[in-house]
Amino acid sequence: MVFLLPQEIFSFLRSFGGSIAPSNLENAVTFYEDLHSVNGGTEVQRKENYTNMINIYYDVATSFYEYGWCQSFHFSSRLYNETFHESIKRHEHYVALRLGLKPGMKVLDLGCGIGGPLREIAAFSGATVIGVNNNESQIKRGTVLNKQYGVAENCQFLKADFMKIPVPDNSIDAAYNMESCCHAPDLVALYKELYRVLKPGQCVAGYDWCMTKEYDPNDQYHNKVKDEIEFGNSLPTIRSTTEYIQAIKAAGFRVLMEEDMADKPDVHIPWYDSLNPNRLSLDGFRRTWLARLVGRQMLKVLEFTRIAPKGSIEVNELLERSGNGLYEGGRLRIFTPIFFYLAQKPHNENI
Ligand SMILES: C[S@@+](CC[C@H](N)C(=O)[O-])C[C@H]1O[C@@H](n2cnc3c(N)ncnc32)[C@H](O)[C@@H]1O
Repeated sequence: MVFLLPQEIFSFLRSFGGSIAPSNLENAVTFYEDLHSVNGGTEVQRKENYTNMINIYYDVATSFYEYGWCQSFHFSSRLYNETFHESIKRHEHYVALRLGLKPGMKVLDLGCGIGGPLREIAAFSGATVIGVNNNESQIKRGTVLNKQYGVAENCQFLKADFMKIPVPDNSIDAAYNMESCCHAPDLVALYKELYRVLKPGQCVAGYDWCMTKEYDPNDQYHNKVKDEIEFGNSLPTIRSTTEYIQAIKAAGFRVLMEEDMADKPDVHIPWYDSLNPNRLSLDGFRRTWLARLVGRQMLKVLEFTRIAPKGSIEVNELLERSGNGLYEGGRLRIFTPIFFYLAQKPHNENI
């Protein structure tokens, strides 16, 4: 929250908490925290309560995400001489190219956030992109941004759970996921739903959050890091790359490509660099430890003076823990948020 003008602080506080009433924020955050293994919660509880859990998380996290990350809420690894925002766009263009998106196609963006990737991919490819999101506040924010940028009619939002997408069978030309399907309570069921809506022969692609082959389920520290990532990011669990691909295949898709973008030889700056607790830089200052420190103090003052609701500091702490867990997962190479896949629904189901 550092370097915010009074007007920006006002707008941050106005959107902070989304649909949660300020008087209810503390209870909502406690409910969320108790679902997680770090507080004795279980995977079964998180899956049973996934809608509430995810909506609380994005109601409280979205203002922070937009402040620190801008409008695309996903990671990217950087190539030589590339800025943070250029690398984010490159990852989005890569998906559009792999899916062969073009004007006339109807495409789903699963778990679209406030529409950063959606607007970029629609502009880049000319396809009509429909962002599916179950979080009302994010859709409201995305709609404001669509108007603000005067984007074309090929950028749309659909308020829905991606486990039950309200579109007819065999009606969609392509679908993609930018680090969202990891929230699904049942990955096979989600990919079966995508299989239902895609036209035969069409593809789904995306980047998602997975434990890598370096993760050892018998290593206590590895498990602690995994629990922290789940806690800080509203995840029921984190599937391994192998489990992820198996789920896509079990739903009936043919997997055409799979690669961990974090592990490519041309990566110059890894995806977790932005979360490095020791990083200090003027480029992307808002993502440095100093900005976090000042932001934390500022939030304490705002909560103490009751300008920010009770529970705000707890949210900030939750997100700081998220950043630390992710950094550790990246540094140990046991976790990746950018596991890429491309999968096709067969032309003929009997093949
Ligand atoms: C990490 S954010 C990524 C947002 C977006 N893809 C981007 O890159 O900016 C995950 C998104 O998935 C959405 N989401 C999670 N579970 C969902 C569900 N069951 N149905 C629809 N959207 C969901 C969240 O509301 C959030 O917008």
